[in-house]
Amino acid sequence: MALANLLPQTGFCFLPTQINRLIPVLRELDVPFYVHRVTGVTYQNNPSTYRTFASGTLFGSAAWQVHYDVTVPQYNIDVQQLEAAISDKSKAVIIAHTLGNPFDLKAVKEFCNKHNLWLIEDNCDALGSKYTIDEETRFTGTWGDIGTSSFYPPHHMTMGEGGAVYTNDPLLNRLILSYRDWGSDCICHSGHDNFCGHRFDGDWSELPHGYNHKYVYSHFGYNLKVTDMQAAVGVEQLKKFPEFIKIRQQNWKYLRDQLDDLKDVLILPEPAENSEPSWFGFLISVRPESSLSRNKVTRYIEEHNVQTRLLFSGNIIYHPAFD
Ligand SMILES: Cc1ncc(COP(=O)(O)O)c(C=O)c1O
Repeated sequence: MALANLLPQTGFCFLPTQINRLIPVLRELDVPFYVHRVTGVTYQNNPSTYRTFASGTLFGSAAWQVHYDVTVPQYNIDVQQLEAAISDKSKAVIIAHTLGNPFDLKAVKEFCNKHNLWLIEDNCDALGSKYTIDEETRFTGTWGDIGTSSFYPPHHMTMGEGGAVYTNDPLLNRLILSYRDWGSDCICHSGHDNFCGHRFDGDWSELPHGYNHKYVYSHFGYNLKVTDMQAAVGVEQLKKFPEFIKIRQQNWKYLRDQLDDLKDVLILPEPAENSEPSWFGFLISVRPESSLSRNKVTRYIEEHNVQTRLLFSGNIIYHPAFD
């Protein structure tokens, strides 16, 4: 099975990490403004962003980020706030589907169409999630212009490290392939030469006529190719992937049912409207009015041999890196 069997996109590119996946795309889209979900600070479990967004964007391009509050208990961007952050510099919207629960794709897509913005779906935590707009159901990651996946071990499937970018746009696909291969103009796959049929008769800027196209560079790029060993792990994982999703959904439902009578003290997760999540985690918040504290609950769960995680970095702008 190939990833293309799961996600009906035409272009796929496998890359080493999430930061690397986003930098080239952002550079090409010339994104000086960057819109991302974030952080309601009034809850004891602060919803949060994933740290690679902040660092990836700041180091990789001259982009600014705009952070948003989220709705609880979906922990996804509050789409009511989108309009307030738009500026004439806005180029793209990049939002993650938090822990597998899709954000309001209908509203975000309408916003992007209205303002002519690219939509990049961070699908790292949501591979296999489905979302329906106007009776059409599609996998998350395939509604926007570009989707990204992470295959770092805790995700729905793994390659050890690494991930993928997918798109249906031939131009974006070509750019992504180019950026991950040092900015090469030639996009022949390994072992396949002269795909364009003009390897020795092209004219490129000031290069001599017929310069070997394999060594023509149209961008400043990176070396972001995954290894064959990673790919071999991915191929095996793909076979088990449908079962992984089923088990994650069963586990989520079991926890949700078992914890239901604690909903006076805990805020329990709910799937987004019009969605069928492929869950990445089970997100619990402690109600601020309860006598519990997050640390107390966390310690109790850990003492009973169940690992816990916060929602990534919490409020990313409270971190020392932002001092
Ligand atoms: C939502 C989200 N985005 C990005 C990443 C980063 O992915 P990677 O570690 O493959 O770069 C992760 C990793 O867990 C994630 O959960």
